[in-house]
Amino acid sequence: MSELDQVLQTIWAELCNGVRDRRHGFHLPVLSNCSRDGVPDSRVVVLRRVDAEQRAIHCHTDRRAPKVASLEVHPTVHWLFYDFERRTQLRIRAHAEVLTDGPLVEEAWLGSSVDSRRCYLAPSAPGAESAEPSANLPASHLTRNPSPEESEAGRAQFAIVRSWATRIDWLHLASGGHRRARFTFEESAGWSAGWIEP
Ligand SMILES: Cc1cc2nc3c(=O)[nH]c(=O)nc-3n(C[C@H](O)[C@H](O)[C@H](O)COP(=O)(O)O)c2cc1C
Repeated sequence: MSELDQVLQTIWAELCNGVRDRRHGFHLPVLSNCSRDGVPDSRVVVLRRVDAEQRAIHCHTDRRAPKVASLEVHPTVHWLFYDFERRTQLRIRAHAEVLTDGPLVEEAWLGSSVDSRRCYLAPSAPGAESAEPSANLPASHLTRNPSPEESEAGRAQFAIVRSWATRIDWLHLASGGHRRARFTFEESAGWSAGWIEP
């Protein structure tokens, strides 16, 4: 296996670790896209699913969130990861879609904790104006998680942002010399790789 192949394999392995391990540097990436009016927009999300074979990177969201509407217009997204411990930055270009139904959504919803589900009970859309400071939660759940039964009301708001990576820019910092590589995916050829200057 070439050194670049090893780097790509490690990238996907560490992304998978970032899903499982809340303390991993890749657990809270920045997801950017173009807002509906064409202006760049970024937000922190939780990394929820990674599949190297499918080049898939997922997060969960409220289907009423502004990013959902903007992804329908501008489906190209950009993921930014930095793992302080491994001194590794990933900049990943991807094509995204929003899923609100189907087996993947059911599986993700079933696998989510009541703690995570609580935010989907929000009475108003994320980003909606509020006359006063607001947690956007029903009063009954301000200080406690819903029961599994109560949490089911959040299912209607739950969505997956599913994306497929098309380009990865990998930067590894080292005192002996930084390293940088770019990986590009083409349907006809799979991943191609090359070193680039840090
Ligand atoms: C640590 C952290 C984790 C977050 N995780 C998510 C997430 O997984 N999904 C999500 O939609 N928003 C998440 N948010 C909130 C987003 O950053 C953002 O404020 C919200 O999604 C609204 O974004 P939008 O207006 O671009 O749709 C998180 C914020 C923080 C600080």
